[in-house]
Amino acid sequence: MTNSIKIIQPDDWHVHFREDEMLSVVTKFSSRVNRRCIAMPNTLIPITSSHQALNYKNLIQMNSGKKDFEALIPCYLTENLNIEDFEYSLQKNIFIGGKLYPNNATTNSEFGANNIKNIYNIFEILEKHKKILLIHGEINRNEIDIFDREKYFIDEELYQIRNTFKDLKIVLEHVSSDYGVDFVKTNNNIAGTITPHHMLLTKNDVFNNNDINPHHYCMPVVKNETDLLALRKAACFNNTKFFLGTDSAPHHINDKRKNNSFKAGIFSAPSSIELYASIFEEENALENLETFSSINGPKFYNLELNKSYLTLHKKSMNIPEFTEEGDIKIKNFFANKNINWQVL
Ligand code: NCD
Ligand code: ZN
Repeated sequence: MTNSIKIIQPDDWHVHFREDEMLSVVTKFSSRVNRRCIAMPNTLIPITSSHQALNYKNLIQMNSGKKDFEALIPCYLTENLNIEDFEYSLQKNIFIGGKLYPNNATTNSEFGANNIKNIYNIFEILEKHKKILLIHGEINRNEIDIFDREKYFIDEELYQIRNTFKDLKIVLEHVSSDYGVDFVKTNNNIAGTITPHHMLLTKNDVFNNNDINPHHYCMPVVKNETDLLALRKAACFNNTKFFLGTDSAPHHINDKRKNNSFKAGIFSAPSSIELYASIFEEENALENLETFSSINGPKFYNLELNKSYLTLHKKSMNIPEFTEEGDIKIKNFFANKNINWQVL
C-alpha cells in the first residue's frame, strides 16, 4: 500500500480569486499547494488591460504568503478591447492568453462577446503570438437545455474556431461532458481542464426533490454518470491532453441562493489536490496524478515544469464545513466528508 506520494508541485490552471476581502481570504488556499495559478479575469470590473492585469497579479501574489507563487492572468475578451494594449500585453507576457466568456454564460460574463465572430480578430492575434485561448464553452440560449450547453457550443462555435485558426492553442475549460472529452481528444491543439467536482457529482446531487442544492450548483452544471466516468477516464488515463483546473469559485454563503436566483460556483481550493488524489486512487491511477497535476499543463502552456515537489500522505482528513474569516463565510466543497489524502 502506498502511504505517501511525491509529485512535482502542481499548478492550478483555473481559479477565481475575486477581489477585496474575499481575495485576501481565499488566495492562501490555492498557494498552499500550487506553484502557479491562472487567476480568472471575471472580476466585477473585468480584467481587460495591461494595467489592471499587473495590479491584479501583484495583489494576488502579495496575498499568497509565498515568495515563489505566481498568478497568471488571461485577458477577459470583449468586443471593444483596446487591441494595441492587448497585443503589447501578450508580447510582454502580462497576459498569458485570452478568456472567452460567451455573453451571460456564467458569473460576471455580461461583458463577454455577444457574437463570437466579432472577436475573431482577437483570436488571430493570439494565434500570431502563440498565446492560449481559454474558453468557457457553453451557449446559453433559452431554448437550449442546461445540460446540452457545452455540446451546442462545440457544434455551433468551437468546430468553426478550430477550423479557422488551426495553429491557435485552445483550452476548453472545465470540460463537463463525454461529448466535450471526445472533442478534446480528437482535435489538434486543444486541451481541457477538469475540476474535482465534475468527477465527483452528478445532476442528482444538484437537482432533487424539486430543489436545487446551491453548493453543488456551478457552470457548466454537473451532468450524468456517463459524463462523470468519461471525465475520470480522461483525467486519470489520457496521455497529455487534460490537466488540473479546479474552477474553485467562492461565493459568500448568503449570495449562493437569494430568492430564486443562484450564484454558480463551487469552492474547492481548501482541499483541491487531496480531492484529485482520492479520485486518482479510486481509479487505481495514482501513478498518473503528477502528469495531470504538474506536467500536462505547463507543457501545453509552453512553460517550465516546477522545480519544487509536494508530498501527499495517506491520512484521513475531514473537510470543515465553512471557510470563515472576518465578514467572509464560504461553504467548502465536500464539507464534512472524509478524504484519504493530506498535505501536511
Ligand atoms: C465561475 C464564477 O463564479 O466566477 N462560476 C462557475 O460556476 N464555475 C465562473 C465560471 O468559471 O464559469
Ligand atoms: Zn471558472
